[in-house]
Amino acid sequence: MNLPPRAELDAARERVHAALQPGGLAVLTGAGMSAESGIPTFRDAMTGLWSRFDPAELASDAGFRAQPQRVWQWYAERRDGVRRAEPNAGHRALAAFDQRHPGVLAIVTQNVDDLHQRAGNRDAIRLHGDILEDRWLDACARQPPCAVAAASGGTPPRCAECGNPVRPGVVWFGEMLPAHALAQAEQAARQCRVLLVVGTSGAVWPAAGLAAAARRAGAWVAIVNPHASEIDDEVHLLLRGSAAQVLPALLAGL
Ligand code: OAD
Repeated sequence: MNLPPRAELDAARERVHAALQPGGLAVLTGAGMSAESGIPTFRDAMTGLWSRFDPAELASDAGFRAQPQRVWQWYAERRDGVRRAEPNAGHRALAAFDQRHPGVLAIVTQNVDDLHQRAGNRDAIRLHGDILEDRWLDACARQPPCAVAAASGGTPPRCAECGNPVRPGVVWFGEMLPAHALAQAEQAARQCRVLLVVGTSGAVWPAAGLAAAARRAGAWVAIVNPHASEIDDEVHLLLRGSAAQVLPALLAGL
């Protein structure tokens, strides 16, 4: 077990205990949350997806239009990885806490997998979309709009009527975050008394700004991450350890 010092864990447990009120605890998660479920992160040296692949090609509208077959195939492989993965002990600890304290916890995730949902946190706020969702590349001009499920097989599948290709339901670079999810996330950051930031490099905005926003609004903020992140200076405590180890230890018995 590679856990932070006992005194640090105890200090964080006290903060969470004092935050047991509606909306009192918010948890912002990033790719590190799912790393121990076998889903690769983006920016970890060697294992991160962006160390091997170019986000401009694989995570942008222009990249998809330039090479739809290649990009669709890349997402199809990632979708398979997500479907094969299982929630880890960190996801399960958050779900168990939520069951014990309904209404206290708000999860805001940058992850496009469904592991929080499958662990039991159905209401986790998804800032960057859902990799398993299909949507049209271009807004369908018909009334009523053609059903995306009716797209016929292909790489990517296309609309039989107009040839509109299907794309994955993730937020690509240069795109806006879903407005409702972002508003919910900002509200959770403003409302919470404790924010745990788990497994994110803090490199992508506006998600990275939620830690400072929560702190400005009076929350106590801690990071759970085995490595340094870009927002370490903005928080009260760094819990150096992995999500699947630290979260169960932090939340057990609370
Ligand atoms: P990153 O890959 O940028 O950062 C992952 C973070 O997780 C790093 O700080 C690691 O140190 C940490 N980490 C690794 N293993 C961990 C573990 N077992 N437990 C806890 N932490 C661990 O991922 P994100 O910050 O999520 O966008 O990246 C933000 C966005 O950039 C992603 O949502 C994605 C990407 O482009 C979209 O998909 C739209």
